[in-house]
Amino acid sequence: MDMNEQNGRPRILMCPPAFFGIEYEINPWMDRRRSNDHERAIEQWTTLKTLLESLGATICCLDPVPGLPDMVFTANAALIFRNQAILARFCHRQRQGEEQHFRDWFERHGFELLELPRDCFFEGAGDALFGGGTLFAGYRIRSIVSGHRRIAERLGCRVLSLELVDPHFYHLDTCFCPLNERAAVFYPPAFDSYARRALSATIEDLIPVSDAEARRFACNAVVLSKTVITNEGCPALHRELRSRGFRTCETPLSEFLKAGGSAKCLTLRLDGEDAAAWRSDRIASAPSCDESQQSSTGADSNVISTRVC
Ligand code: ARG
Repeated sequence: MDMNEQNGRPRILMCPPAFFGIEYEINPWMDRRRSNDHERAIEQWTTLKTLLESLGATICCLDPVPGLPDMVFTANAALIFRNQAILARFCHRQRQGEEQHFRDWFERHGFELLELPRDCFFEGAGDALFGGGTLFAGYRIRSIVSGHRRIAERLGCRVLSLELVDPHFYHLDTCFCPLNERAAVFYPPAFDSYARRALSATIEDLIPVSDAEARRFACNAVVLSKTVITNEGCPALHRELRSRGFRTCETPLSEFLKAGGSAKCLTLRLDGEDAAAWRSDRIASAPSCDESQQSSTGADSNVISTRVC
């Protein structure tokens, strides 16, 4: 049985914030002196999860690991393309320990694994987002451009590499969010001028967000069909979206902003984002995330051995 086809429910990977904390500083939002409130983080994460479930998503939970406080940001685990997971190669050693756990999870759940060389930094769906037939990929701060070329060749898709220039918007998903095949939200100052021109030339309806709302992670949105979920305090973007027929939801995520993440970073869409054109012409569906459907060895029979991109 394929859960993808089961009522077409979106499937999302999340990791509970049991060990989440500000234990190091690898982006300008993180400050060890401004630690998170643990109870509040759990409450905010649970509220997001419940909201996604109420919108029809199935949430798959990955076991958190002590000593890996950023593992809660599952968007960085991998880039998903059909049944393939292109695994992250983290740039900072503080997050490299997560790689093995993400790898094990995808392997156990029947994904075909693709691995980049060790020094080919690539931070998964945090830096690579499908919009229509294009894979938009951010580079310079966390991911490197040569990885994009390897991924494009391997997946046979068009990749548009976008240079990120503001350290506060260090992952593409902090400053860009495809809404569907023709529209996206973005924060212009996060990109170099070539990237801004390339985005305008490629995307029919490009919605800019203000400085204030970009800093509230307005672009770090979860899109479920015509519903867009963000951190609270992004009213101008929500108005723009509603005027285009979207429904908007806000949920408090202040504790995660302290680590430089928000709604989108806390999720990884396992069946592909709605904006990805390949979803409609899928030839092979993504595997299930239901533990009960895995074989007793823990390895699903449709795992194809790991390949190197
Ligand atoms: N503290 C984490 C880091 O700096 C936050 C990751 C946010 N993830 C994302 N997809 N933007 O790596």
